[in-house]
Amino acid sequence: MGYKVVVAGATGNVGREMLNILAEREFPVDEIAALASRKSLGTEISFGDKTVKTKDLETFDFTGWDIALFAVGSDATKIYAPKAAAAGCVVIDNSSLYRYDAAVPLIVPEVNADAIAGYTNKMIIANPNCSTAQMVVALKPLHDRARIKRVVVSTYQSVSGAGKEGIDELWDQTKGLYVPGQEVAPKKFTKQIAFNVIPHIDVFLDDGSTKEEWKMVAETKKILDKNIKVTATCVRVPVFVGHSESINIEFEDFLDEHEARDILRESPGVMVIDKRENGGYITPIECVGDYATYISRIRQDSTIDNGINLWCVSDNLRKGAALNAVQIAELLGSRHLKKG
Ligand SMILES: NC(=O)c1ccc[n+]([C@@H]2O[C@H](COP(=O)([O-])OP(=O)(O)OC[C@H]3O[C@@H](n4cnc5c(N)ncnc54)[C@H](OP(=O)(O)O)[C@@H]3O)[C@@H](O)[C@H]2O)c1
Repeated sequence: MGYKVVVAGATGNVGREMLNILAEREFPVDEIAALASRKSLGTEISFGDKTVKTKDLETFDFTGWDIALFAVGSDATKIYAPKAAAAGCVVIDNSSLYRYDAAVPLIVPEVNADAIAGYTNKMIIANPNCSTAQMVVALKPLHDRARIKRVVVSTYQSVSGAGKEGIDELWDQTKGLYVPGQEVAPKKFTKQIAFNVIPHIDVFLDDGSTKEEWKMVAETKKILDKNIKVTATCVRVPVFVGHSESINIEFEDFLDEHEARDILRESPGVMVIDKRENGGYITPIECVGDYATYISRIRQDSTIDNGINLWCVSDNLRKGAALNAVQIAELLGSRHLKKG
């Protein structure tokens, strides 16, 4: 006996990956519903070796469905997630809407699996921001060993983090630069993204930081430890899939770089690729389609007493979104919604 599973946002980048990963990991699905907006009604989407036709989220009845993976953005989530929850279907949401709600667990299974018990408060579980998810997977085992005091992170985030429109804009703008008369002006992004980098993701806040940067601070505290200080600079780069992060970590206790490497090698969800030679490190193009959070360039920061620098790369559509959501569904199934 398996689960009746809904994927809302099935025509989007994250929704498609959710369907792929449910099939790849053989999540026990008895029945699947792929939902999107009315304009996509009937669109055929792959689910393993089958195809499913999308239905309209607006008119869908969640009664009798067990789990709904949502990837539709905050506006649609606000309307439909409470409907699903009220019908007894547990929502695992990828938008930022519920992440900072104290009554809603924000889960990265490798880091804070036990917090999932709080799902009964609202029948909703939140999935973190893509940049936070991969970072906390890397930080957790190091924090357990040497207590992290402060993190300084700079991100290099791919355009797929901005949805289908982000991917299209990089593709069209890049092609347009070579064809006179077919230049594409910035629309989804604030400046040209082709052959450029943009130090601005999400809206500006009063203190000069951006909402994306604030999310990394607030979510790391909620998932890992409220005492960890985080300062972030989030940057969009012309990469289709895969977010990269340069992370500087200051610990309470001394942690030797060799021990840090050994700890990370043994940690769940982490893959260390760290040879001090040409190409002995990971780049985003190599992580596409993978589950792991890759760590390279592990080294001592000699400018502080207890510091380590590292480079962290992961597929933002997978660990940053769809994979983490499916892992949450697996955790929910094994601990709380047992079947069979
Ligand atoms: N991309 C990432 O790296 C990432 C990481 C973490 C979290 N997220 C979050 O995941 C969510 C989806 O992101 P995405 O990258 O997959 O976006 P996307 O590629 O633009 O896809 C959006 C999906 O939502 C559906 N949708 C939008 N408004 C809807 C409405 N009113 N009613 C029904 N369906 C609606 C779209 O359906 P139609 O095709 O019919 O319009 C489409 O299936 C967002 O909340 C995003 O912040 C994304």
